[in-house]
Amino acid sequence: MSERDYKLILAIESSCDETACAVLKDGHQILSSEIASQVDEHARFGGVVPEVASRQHLMALFPLTQRAIDNAGITLDQLDAIAVTRAPGLVGALLVGVSGAKALAYALKIPLIGINHLEAHLMAARLQERKPKFPYLGLIVSGGHTALYNVKGPGNFDLISNTRDDAAGEAYDKVAKMMGLGYPGGIVIDQLAKKGDKDAIRFPRAMMRKDTLDFSFSGVKTSVRQYLDKHQPTEEDLPDICASFQEAVVEVLVKKSLLAARKFKLDRWVLAGGVAANSRLRRQAEVAGKNNALEVFLPEVQFCTDNAAMIAIAAHQRLVLGQKHSLDMNAAANESLF
Ligand code: KG4
Ligand code: ZN
Repeated sequence: MSERDYKLILAIESSCDETACAVLKDGHQILSSEIASQVDEHARFGGVVPEVASRQHLMALFPLTQRAIDNAGITLDQLDAIAVTRAPGLVGALLVGVSGAKALAYALKIPLIGINHLEAHLMAARLQERKPKFPYLGLIVSGGHTALYNVKGPGNFDLISNTRDDAAGEAYDKVAKMMGLGYPGGIVIDQLAKKGDKDAIRFPRAMMRKDTLDFSFSGVKTSVRQYLDKHQPTEEDLPDICASFQEAVVEVLVKKSLLAARKFKLDRWVLAGGVAANSRLRRQAEVAGKNNALEVFLPEVQFCTDNAAMIAIAAHQRLVLGQKHSLDMNAAANESLF
């Protein structure tokens, strides 16, 4: 099949706590991008409950698919391929999307392609008009992952470094929980930090030694816990704590990315994943890019957090290379990118 045969792709994402469906035209034009968030369902448990997630996906998937089709102004029979997140994620949650995608591909007699969620995050910046050319440095900062990749092309990645413990988003969420700010906490900390002083408290910058590109965020998290235990802060103190914690995380993310770009001689830097929606990280990335002759690519906020448009663009890139899956494709909870 040539590129022109994949005019309309429907993509489904159900790896964690959002069900998402999108329709992509000609590999770049987003006709619809729908999200049904389950955040409220999980918030009362203080985190994602896998069983609840599967059930919510099951309820949301078909109405959401219909909405994505309707809002794209097309009909199901116009679709040229079905894309779905295949890995990694909660296996029960993934299976809902995978089963739905298989049913659609089978009924419509069109190709099915399974996509790695991390690959899709790394491609999200390519949904923008100003697309990063390959190769580029990709920083994934999400609730489950914090890693740097040398992104050489579709399906062609080298892992540069990873977190040794918590992911950056996980640290945001845990710190928010400690302060009673609810779940998910990243966005709340981002907002509160705007009113605080980032230099109020000096939390540790982990793994700042020059010889490692790896990340570690459990130290800063513990340090915030100790601070809270010792000082018993009131509500007025929270903005300073948020801003100071955030600065410790953002500084490490930016420094390690700059080091990696230099080491691997990459002059484009793409940020991806939910934490890439963070206003301080976005600002500091722009500043660091300007000062270090590094072209910075930030996906729109709605395409940093989980969405299906990124699954669709990753799928399009692979489909035009002649790749697809058979109907016996399976979901996988764990799968690295290469
Ligand atoms: O990419 P994503 O939607 O899901 C995963 O694949 O994990 O990322 C979710 C993570 C959560 O930890 C959430 O707290 C964090 O991204 N997040 C943020 C912001 N928005 C979402 N963290 C910091 N600042 C934000 N504005
Ligand atoms: Zn994600």
